[in-house]
Amino acid sequence: MKHFTAVTDVAHLPTLIQNALAYKTNPLMHRGLGAGKRIGLLFLNPSMRTRLSTQVAAQNLGMEAIVFNVDKEGWRLEFEEEAIMSGDTVEHVKDAAPIMGKYFDVLAIRTFPSLKNKEEDYSELYINQFIKYAGIPVVSLESATLHPLQSLTDVVTITEALSALPPMARKPKVVLTWAPHVKPLPQCVANSFAQWINAWGQADFVITHPPDYELDERFTQGATITHNQDEALKDADFVYVKNWSTYQDYGKIYSNDPAWMLTLEKLQITNNARVMHCLPVRRNVELSDEVLDSSHALVTEQAGNRVWAAQAVLAGILDGIL
Ligand code: CP
Repeated sequence: MKHFTAVTDVAHLPTLIQNALAYKTNPLMHRGLGAGKRIGLLFLNPSMRTRLSTQVAAQNLGMEAIVFNVDKEGWRLEFEEEAIMSGDTVEHVKDAAPIMGKYFDVLAIRTFPSLKNKEEDYSELYINQFIKYAGIPVVSLESATLHPLQSLTDVVTITEALSALPPMARKPKVVLTWAPHVKPLPQCVANSFAQWINAWGQADFVITHPPDYELDERFTQGATITHNQDEALKDADFVYVKNWSTYQDYGKIYSNDPAWMLTLEKLQITNNARVMHCLPVRRNVELSDEVLDSSHALVTEQAGNRVWAAQAVLAGILDGIL
C-alpha cells in the first residue's frame, strides 16, 4: 500500500510528470481504471481548486468521489493518543478513520497547521493518524507542512512551459519569492515547492525572502537563498510568488513590506519570466493586477493542471506503481 504525502513517496518523478501531461492530452484514456472504486475527499479546511480538480481527476478515471467537509458537517475529531475527551472533540480519529477505510478505497485529506505549535504542526499528526488508522492509501490534499499535489502541478506546469520554448543552453532559473499578505499563512506551499524543485533537479533554483522568513532547511537545501529580491529576479525564467509566515519564531508576520509585491516593473530584469502562484491570490498585495492580467501570468494554466497532477497520482495509487 502506498500513500502520497510528499515527493519522497514518488518512485520516479519524471514518469509521474509525463503521466500527468499524457492525461492532459487524453483525459479519458484510463477511464476504466477506477471503475468500482471510491475515493473519500475529507476537508478539515476550505478549498476550491484542490477539491474540484481531484473530483474531476477521479471521475476521469471512472472513480466515484465523495466529499466530506469535516469542518462543517462532521463530528469534531480528536487526534491525540490517549486523550481524555472531555472537551469539544467528539470522535477519535482511531475510531473514525478505520470506518472510512471500509467505505473508501482511497482517502484524501486536507488539513492546515495551527501556526501556534511548530513541533506539533511539523509532526504532521493529523495526516499521520489517518495513515495509521485508515488501512487504505492516503493522499494529502495539503497537510500542515506540505502541499504535494500543488507542487507536482507546479513542476508539470514548468515542464510544459519549457517544452513550448526553444531549447535552453542552461538550466531554467526558477525563483520562489516571498510576497506580503494580510494574515499569517502556512509554509506548506513554499516548503513543498522547494522540496519538489530540488527533487526535480532540472533548475537553477533561487529562494528570496526578507530576513526572518527562513524556511525549514530540510526542504530548501540545494537552493540559493538571498534577501535581495532584485538579485534573485535577474534573468529568472519562472517566478513563483507566495507568502508564508515565519518558521523560526513560528507563525508570525515580521516585516510585511509592500515593496516585496511582484510588479511588472520588477519583471523587467527577468528573462521575460512566467509568473506562478498556487491561488487564491490577494491581488495588489502579493501580485499586482498588471502582472496577473498580463501574458507573464501562468496561474490559470497552472490551476488547470491540478486535474492532470491529481489524475496521475490517483492512477499511480490504483496501479500500485507510485
Ligand atoms: N491552491 C490550492 O490548493 O487552492 P485551494 O485552496 O482552492 O484548493
